[in-house]
Amino acid sequence: MSLASRPDIISFAGGMPGNELFPVDEVEELFRGLDLKTRQAAFQYGPTPGLPSLLESLGGFLEKKGLPVQKNRLMITTGSQQGLSIVAKAFVDPGDRVLTEYPCFIGAIAAFRSAGAKIVPIPVDEEGLDIAMLRLEAARPDPAKFLYITPYFHNPAGMLYSSQRKRELVEALQGRNIPLIEDDAYGDLWFHEEDRERLKPIKALDPEGIDVCYLGSFSKILGPGLRLGWLLAPPAIYEKCELIKQSADACSPSFTQVIADAFMRSGQIDSYIASVRQQYRLRASAMAAGLRKCLPDYVRWNEPKGGFYIWLTLPEGTDAAEILKHAIDGGVVFVTGSTFDPEGRRTNAIRLSYCNNTPEEIERGIPIVASAIRTVCG
Ligand SMILES: Cc1ncc(COP(=O)(O)O)c(C=O)c1O
Repeated sequence: MSLASRPDIISFAGGMPGNELFPVDEVEELFRGLDLKTRQAAFQYGPTPGLPSLLESLGGFLEKKGLPVQKNRLMITTGSQQGLSIVAKAFVDPGDRVLTEYPCFIGAIAAFRSAGAKIVPIPVDEEGLDIAMLRLEAARPDPAKFLYITPYFHNPAGMLYSSQRKRELVEALQGRNIPLIEDDAYGDLWFHEEDRERLKPIKALDPEGIDVCYLGSFSKILGPGLRLGWLLAPPAIYEKCELIKQSADACSPSFTQVIADAFMRSGQIDSYIASVRQQYRLRASAMAAGLRKCLPDYVRWNEPKGGFYIWLTLPEGTDAAEILKHAIDGGVVFVTGSTFDPEGRRTNAIRLSYCNNTPEEIERGIPIVASAIRTVCG
């Protein structure tokens, strides 16, 4: 992070939206236009599950995605990172196994570890989780406490699960007493209309015989500084989670809940998401064009369909940390793949994020990454 904030460095490291994309003026105007009672409530404590008005507007937003809001309970969390900590505490006793993807979002690894979980990583390919391995795990007599997945524009792998893979995953879990934690932090940031069918959450399919807890966030569709996310869970699981949240922070920030609610009710959320989607699409295509032009053939990567990231797989045995050193000398930073390996062993991958750079910066930065790769790998 300290390198990434240096002005002479191009950072492909953070998963942060571009500051210049935030709706600063719109939010200022919205807040000023609220009645005094609502503006005062913004300074006050609120109910643990969230401000009722936001629960209602967010509930409507989620229902439009087909999510079964009425059959479940919705809770506002302090970022979806808090949602991850809460579900970890709700399900895990020290030493319990939990199933994750490899690679896996680092914040999830941290949350599960701090609850004492033993993490069992299951690899993903460009269509989703390795189902044969999942079936083996699901058939064990001592089932894991849950499976955690990020099927929609994965962090860090960038990929989008196929509908077929989601179906197979559901079949593998049904009746196995392994709840599914479905993390949908990036699903709204799709680039192509034809992918939208694949973005339907598993929670929206409402499969029989499996408890699905659905996590989401305002971080990538409004701003991470709001620190607001959500958890949609079956009532029995929700009740336990609410007690855990109560002891963690009593309530999420009322101030930003008021802002998020006003933003949703004004109808601006949809047009804002559409505008940032367009920006990220431009940035992604600048990065993909640079990679196509500059990378050697032995590097594998996928054209991004949405979200923030491109995942590069280097030849077996490559140490991406060496590549990073050369890239920093050239003025570029990124995150090495071992960060996202719960076992910290796989060193031959790189995560590049395009969310926080202009297409011009991306065009300047990618040849530096490619040259660092050639220096180390030949
Ligand atoms: C997959 C995924 N889940 C959850 C989060 C946490 O987001 P937040 O706590 O800002 O809502 C992130 C942030 O990068 C993420 O990439």
